[in-house]
Amino acid sequence: MSATIVDGKAVAAELREEIAAEIAAMNQSGARPPSLAVVLCGDDPASAIYVRNKGRAAEAVGMRFGLHTPPATSTTEQLVELVKALDADDDVDGILVQVPLPAQIDEQAVTQWISREKDADGFHPYNLGLLAAGHEGTVAPCTPLGCMELLRGSGFAPSGRRAVVIGRSPNVGRPLAFLLTNADATVTVCHSRTQDLPSVCRDADILVAAIGRPRMVDASYVKPGAFVIDVGTTPENGRLSGDVDRGSVEPVAGWLTPVPGGVGPMTVAMVLRNTLALARVRRALVRV
Ligand code: GUN
Repeated sequence: MSATIVDGKAVAAELREEIAAEIAAMNQSGARPPSLAVVLCGDDPASAIYVRNKGRAAEAVGMRFGLHTPPATSTTEQLVELVKALDADDDVDGILVQVPLPAQIDEQAVTQWISREKDADGFHPYNLGLLAAGHEGTVAPCTPLGCMELLRGSGFAPSGRRAVVIGRSPNVGRPLAFLLTNADATVTVCHSRTQDLPSVCRDADILVAAIGRPRMVDASYVKPGAFVIDVGTTPENGRLSGDVDRGSVEPVAGWLTPVPGGVGPMTVAMVLRNTLALARVRRALVRV
């Protein structure tokens, strides 16, 4: 048996088509297209690539995209002023501050000024709280949403399945555990202190590797036939490496999301979906 390699690019392209059709319908009804504002501060090369991909994807679906690039020497106060201005701008539907920020910037002090109504990343504590309480909400963190869409796009229903998430990060592991729980999976979250990690993982029908350690997950972690989702994106020798040792896992798993071309394109599509959802909700509240 060899795993089905899940084509994240194809699933993301379908989602972008759906989003483009919804934006075209908005335009037809005379509404402005949704607008996404991205703040990119500093010289992190990976961030520059991610932001470029988000900009291209936004424009391809007919979304407005505003890129703000304050210099790497900016202060926390300067970024706070920028984010406050974007948050107050009625023409902006979604705001995303790309991280990591330069070391002198207090990330939390900046991002706390993104209101929950403009939270394109889905990181606002209110929106995370809704998720934790079992509500669908308007937005959710993009990488976890992308993982859920890869399951859905593969026809793999989480209900009643055992899911194991390796990694408890605030942006991926924890919110994904909520999404899987809300989809009626039985979820275990593992981390660096988990005892006998491979044997816990071998119970999983859905195994998510979100650790940031290239090729750590090999066949000894995988139940035959499992759906394995690789969230790892560690730069190595000019390319991205996943957390899953593909050569070892592919003969055992039932499905495997590759790196690159699995979760990554989905994350970008989910930023667009979040922004569209925010635009709909805010306009319904602010003006019809
Ligand atoms: N840096 C890497 N991934 C992300 C993301 O999803 N959102 C933001 N804001 N920054 C990132």
